[in-house]
Amino acid sequence: MQVTRAPLRPQDLLHLRRENEAISAGYKVSRSLLDISERSILKVDLIAEMTTLVNTKSRVIEVLDGGCGTGFTLEQIKLRLPGKVRTTGLTLNEQHLEASTRYEYQIDEMIIGPIQEHKFNRQYDFIVDFLGANFYFPMEIIPIYGKILSLGGECFVKFPLQPAELARDQSKRCFSSDLGSYAKFFNENGLGIIQYADSGLETDFLLRSIK
Ligand SMILES: C[S@@+](CC[C@H](N)C(=O)[O-])C[C@H]1O[C@@H](n2cnc3c(N)ncnc32)[C@H](O)[C@@H]1O
Repeated sequence: MQVTRAPLRPQDLLHLRRENEAISAGYKVSRSLLDISERSILKVDLIAEMTTLVNTKSRVIEVLDGGCGTGFTLEQIKLRLPGKVRTTGLTLNEQHLEASTRYEYQIDEMIIGPIQEHKFNRQYDFIVDFLGANFYFPMEIIPIYGKILSLGGECFVKFPLQPAELARDQSKRCFSSDLGSYAKFFNENGLGIIQYADSGLETDFLLRSIK
């Protein structure tokens, strides 16, 4: 496994402390594909989407988990699509790398540190971000995903009703149940909506790079 690190910022230390408290209380930190499908509002079949991309691109596809925890989701993707995916996980937490190594998960690359500080050297064909970096800071993360998604690449993300980065400043609030404001934000970042589903509290999107 290739490992790279990006420097932590003050807000990441707070996030890490909360995450470690949740881990102590029994939180497992990386969902299975079944858990994601059950917990998601948009019942998207991630393996089916990735299989279509493999067939369209006729090559190994690059998959990024933008908040992978210990990386179980990526391990399952690798097992379901053997020889067809290169996997990269991103997490703030050094302990996730240790656990992933202990469990012998077959992950090609782990990036430890905030995505906002990482210098990407490749494009990704599928990004899954289930309650990962995007859920906390979508205004910062969607522009990054727009840049690193390959043309025609897809991205599955979950949005809260009000992102943490906007909660402090009500005047900046730009999302509502109004699909138009989301679509505008995505389009500005080279992304188009393929499918979405809204529970009133959270919204799941399957997006495609249209740049
Ligand atoms: C709540 S866990 C979700 C883990 C997994 N996706 C799941 O559904 O079980 C959030 C993950 O996102 C990571 N994360 C949050 N903000 C991040 C950021 N700015 N850059 C990189 N990783 C981040 C956390 O360290 C953790 O690995």
